[in-house]
Amino acid sequence: MVDIRPVPGVGHEGARLLGRGITRSYKGVKALNDVNIEIPRGRVTGLIGANGAGKSTLVNILSGYDRPDDGVISIDSEEIARESAQRRTRRGIARTFQHGHLFPRLTVIENVEVTALACGLSRAKARSLATDVLTEFQLEEWALHEADHLPHGVERRLGVARALATRPRWVLFDEPAAGLNEGEAQHFRETMRALAARGIGVLLIDHNMPLVFGSCDHIFVLGAGRNVVDGTPDEIRHDERLATSYLGNAARQIAEGGADVTA
Ligand SMILES: Nc1ncnc2c1ncn2[C@@H]1O[C@H](COP(=O)(O)OP(=O)(O)O)[C@@H](O)[C@H]1O
Ligand SMILES: [Mg+2]
Repeated sequence: MVDIRPVPGVGHEGARLLGRGITRSYKGVKALNDVNIEIPRGRVTGLIGANGAGKSTLVNILSGYDRPDDGVISIDSEEIARESAQRRTRRGIARTFQHGHLFPRLTVIENVEVTALACGLSRAKARSLATDVLTEFQLEEWALHEADHLPHGVERRLGVARALATRPRWVLFDEPAAGLNEGEAQHFRETMRALAARGIGVLLIDHNMPLVFGSCDHIFVLGAGRNVVDGTPDEIRHDERLATSYLGNAARQIAEGGADVTA
């Protein structure tokens, strides 16, 4: 077990999404092997690791899109590993997908609205929430566009807007900044900090190391389906295990780019 110290409280004591001893094999190959993670509300938690390390598998398991072979998933000590994805959405766990998952023939606002409807809101409330969320993510001008063929940055913002339409307590972001330009990534970093300030527990998976190191309170590193190390950005940056674990390029990026953004 890795040492997971409690993050100092910010008024959401006990509201933690936890994974303990999570193990998942596909055809005998262990994608996750005894993995631990903790996502407190009001914080941005990073999850990094090379392609194939098991990051998306972990998000699928936390959000109910996949089941672990072994391990415990809990909120405030309540076990949820057997609950459906829909039930977990209602408990406040929202996620984005690495690729799309939008309804291409619906408009931008309809994409947000159907998500709110699926969470049990009335039509009127869903429309009003969708309007608010679009404003918050500067998507008003795109409201009536169909969701296919959106500019990449707009599509990514819509993914976040949809997650927010479930009024979540946690949002799990799987590579949300992939393909964003620097300005958009910076904006995204501010969005995540703003979500955390509202009390939402954010999980950020991304390969953009300056973004991860500049926005996370705590970072978990996965390597080949196992916990390698976890700690504050500063602790991770100086941890020798990283250099020998999973990344050539990204480790260099941490040393170079990561230093600037948190200085
Ligand atoms: N549905 C699946 N069927 C078979 N193998 C899978 C499946 N999902 C993930 N894997 C395997 O599990 C490992 C971890 O994958 P993934 O969680 O997607 O990694 P990451 O998101 O860190 O790139 C990889 O070896 C991948 O091929
Ligand atoms: Mg992935």
